[in-house]
Amino acid sequence: MKFDTPAGQNHIDQLKVVGRPTDRIDGKYKTTGTAPYAYERHDVAPNAAYGFVLGAGIAKGRVRWIDTAAAKRAPGVLAIVTTLEHPRMERGMMNAAYLFGGDQVQHYHQAIAVVVAETFEQARAAAFLVKVDYASEPGKFDLAAEAKGAPPVPGDSGEGSGGNGEERVGDFEGAFAQAPVRFDETYSTADESHAMMEPHATIAAWDGDKVTLWTSNQMIAWGHGSLAKILGVPKENVRLDSPYVGGGFGGKLFVRADAVLAALAAKAAKRPVKVALTRPLIMNNTTHRPATIQRVRIGATRDGTITAIAHESTSGNLPDGSPETAVSQTKLLYAGANRLTAMKLAHLDLPEGNAMRAPGEAPGLMVLEVAMDEMAEKLGMDPVEFRIRNDTQVDPQDPKRSFSHRDLVGCLRLGAERFGWSKRNPKPGQVRDGQWLVGVGMAAAFRNNMVLKSGARVRLDQAGTVTVETDMTDIGTGSYTIIAQTAAEMMGVTIDKVVVRLGDSAFPVSSGSGGQFGANSSTSGVYAACVKLRDAVAQRLGINSADAVFADGQVRSGNRAVPLGDAAAGGALTAEDTIEFGDISKSQQQSTFGVHLVEVGVDAYTGETRVRRMLAVCAAGRILNPKSARSQVIGGMVMGTGAALMEELAVDTKRGFFANHDLAGYEVPVHADIPHQEVIFLDEVDPMSSPMKAKGVGELGICGVGAAVANAIYNATGIRVRDYPITLDKLLDRMPDAA
Ligand code: MOS
Repeated sequence: MKFDTPAGQNHIDQLKVVGRPTDRIDGKYKTTGTAPYAYERHDVAPNAAYGFVLGAGIAKGRVRWIDTAAAKRAPGVLAIVTTLEHPRMERGMMNAAYLFGGDQVQHYHQAIAVVVAETFEQARAAAFLVKVDYASEPGKFDLAAEAKGAPPVPGDSGEGSGGNGEERVGDFEGAFAQAPVRFDETYSTADESHAMMEPHATIAAWDGDKVTLWTSNQMIAWGHGSLAKILGVPKENVRLDSPYVGGGFGGKLFVRADAVLAALAAKAAKRPVKVALTRPLIMNNTTHRPATIQRVRIGATRDGTITAIAHESTSGNLPDGSPETAVSQTKLLYAGANRLTAMKLAHLDLPEGNAMRAPGEAPGLMVLEVAMDEMAEKLGMDPVEFRIRNDTQVDPQDPKRSFSHRDLVGCLRLGAERFGWSKRNPKPGQVRDGQWLVGVGMAAAFRNNMVLKSGARVRLDQAGTVTVETDMTDIGTGSYTIIAQTAAEMMGVTIDKVVVRLGDSAFPVSSGSGGQFGANSSTSGVYAACVKLRDAVAQRLGINSADAVFADGQVRSGNRAVPLGDAAAGGALTAEDTIEFGDISKSQQQSTFGVHLVEVGVDAYTGETRVRRMLAVCAAGRILNPKSARSQVIGGMVMGTGAALMEELAVDTKRGFFANHDLAGYEVPVHADIPHQEVIFLDEVDPMSSPMKAKGVGELGICGVGAAVANAIYNATGIRVRDYPITLDKLLDRMPDAA
């Protein structure tokens, strides 16, 4: 099905199943520990051996030799595969770092060997007997040192943000110089790790020249193609299966060393082999959100109308790596005739920087929305009013383009009202609750909406059961449930009559999960397949498809009503289709909007920050399942709080690695850290986006949170910290007199 004109009235609009708060159908498996993750697929490979990955001990240089003699003699060892036995292997899609093969070391903890043994403990013990000699070379590890002179480069997050190295509208410098009120500050954001619960893990098994990988991956079709390329095997001989994923956040968009090494190890050991990247390996072996240095300049008239706005970001990456697209939201969020955005890229020899939840916008808004708060204060304006004053209904870089739907102002007004914004004391450092200095802050939320081609197959059997198959993944987001809701709505059955099977490369290619494109795109693919299945049902029953009403498990036409399953009496009916999106998203800008409001307490004596309550108001088209969407937004709010307060990969700028490579040193917030979180969705539909009239929401939840927390800390203490995360050491010596 081609989607190239706005959606009219359709079956989804009935909202009998779609749009209703629905428990996740995989919830009981997750909460009872019975959803099998990749490493636990004892059913598919009961005799799997264990692979333990060895990471490089240098950040840059060459592996001179690897001596495996002692390791091979160790108890239980079945095979050892080293990087020197293979020529450098091809890279997977969208990746800058090579995963294995050859003697070159590009970054610390790059995989250099896998040791296979009967047990995990034996493999690990033997791995420590492997001797490696390196020829180390000097590398560049310090973003601040390399940022000067970093050239502007184009970049694309692959998730809906990006552009040219430099983009200009009007005359920024001239307008800024003449603006009556000017603001110019520089900020930094930290390297961050996805730190998902489930580590990267794969079981690989060969059957002749065919290989199957039970793995944990967000994008099955990308992984499928990449693995075929990396292993040098025809695509039809590779199968990926990833029905449950314990979090990804962009870290599992690509195949990683676990998958490649499991496949190589299984071949060498002539046995299925399972490989998980141990937690200490993940931070340096895989990808991360790169640190940024960002400068924002805003010029405005005294009434708060922005006349000039510039946002420049510098990040680092390996050669062939991309810049963090942190300036993208600044192209679209606020009006202003004179504009400049730039992405600069410094060469660093740290592990690869790549997509992490809302790549671009998440760190970009952490800066832009603090700058907006600072500018509002300079203007003597309320921060909410300053944003409303500068709202735009057209793309500021190309005013002929309007937004498909934009209600940022509605979000701001409703959020302010519900959070009690009017009670906020605009003067910082004034509100005290016992030992706590209390402050309130807000930030706008913005994230582009992206749609991707997505396919599905649906089958109806005689019992009236509808089975959906697509290679779409559920990375903890609720895909199983919204796909079941969509099929139930389309076929007129209850959700318990739908079976959803996901994550297998043998199924039709979907959008996959990423960039908050998954929910809208994949359900649209299911919609398309169900339109075909409805036609097949009508034809089988000898009724006119246009007259058929699918409801209550029946198909009705005129006075005739038959159980849906009767259409499959002569054999199951199957239909398959792919939704393909035309140019509709080019003519109109599709984005999602919101506001984050946060109240913090900062301990007057220790500088410790505690989030007391949070509210998000989101405008993101039709909300397919308010319950799972709310969970997504709440998760994003927790993650954004982490970026604001604690998450930072500490760079060893001499040796070139992230020093805190475990969850003891890399701290993430948990639910218990934030006592009150609420989410409100504006009741809206966006017929420009898809037949579902939905948009992405899973990443909108993180966009702007960091700034809202930072602005609340300022309101509580009067201290501006422009260097994230805002740990207590950055507050302590500037705290207002405590006692
Ligand atoms: Mo993307 S960072 O996987 O949503």
